[in-house]
Amino acid sequence: MKILAISGSPRLKGNTNYLVDQALREAARLGAQTEKVVLSQYKVNPCLGHDNCAAFDSCQQKDDAGWILDKFCEADGVILATPVYYYNVSAQMKAFIDRNYFPYKHDRKSQARAVGIIVVAAVEGIEDTLHTLKQFVDERFDINADKELIIRGYADRIGDAKNNPPLVEEARKLGRQMVASLKEAS
Ligand SMILES: Cc1cc2nc3c(=O)[nH]c(=O)nc-3n(C[C@H](O)[C@H](O)[C@H](O)COP(=O)(O)O)c2cc1C
Repeated sequence: MKILAISGSPRLKGNTNYLVDQALREAARLGAQTEKVVLSQYKVNPCLGHDNCAAFDSCQQKDDAGWILDKFCEADGVILATPVYYYNVSAQMKAFIDRNYFPYKHDRKSQARAVGIIVVAAVEGIEDTLHTLKQFVDERFDINADKELIIRGYADRIGDAKNNPPLVEEARKLGRQMVASLKEAS
């Protein structure tokens, strides 16, 4: 059972990455093979928008999006995590979402049977951000709403999420629920 987390936060020791790590650690403890891809560590360019993906066998941009999308399409479970930046996902996450246009245009959906969403804001914008991610998930995955696990929390400075025990527990629970959900589905 492979669980892949895609993190849109460039703060490696920030709140989003901390919560992702908690979820993945629990999943690994229960036997899942886990991996986290922090988008800012790789080159994932914005979509070029030629809207001619169908004419090509592979995306014409030769950056890291290709292998990340392969893993994304093949994982059994996926976690999408982002801080709120101006009432929406971070630019790194938006670029990744848009680069899904190539597999979308080739009728290639993600195989995942469980999806987790983690959104962190200082004050506001969580609902708008969740709306973006849910629309994306509905389009990219063939799963029921009960297989979508969502956690949202308020945190600003590095360490805020770590110092919020109920939020940390929610992240750990998300990891456990994903494994349970995937075992149920297999
Ligand atoms: C460019 C930028 C835009 C932000 N926009 C918002 C916002 O619209 N609403 C909000 O509540 N917090 C906003 N924040 C605060 C972050 O969501 C908050 O600090 C969060 O904890 C960062 O997560 P991280 O530690 O995982 O990077 C913004 C932060 C940055 C750097």
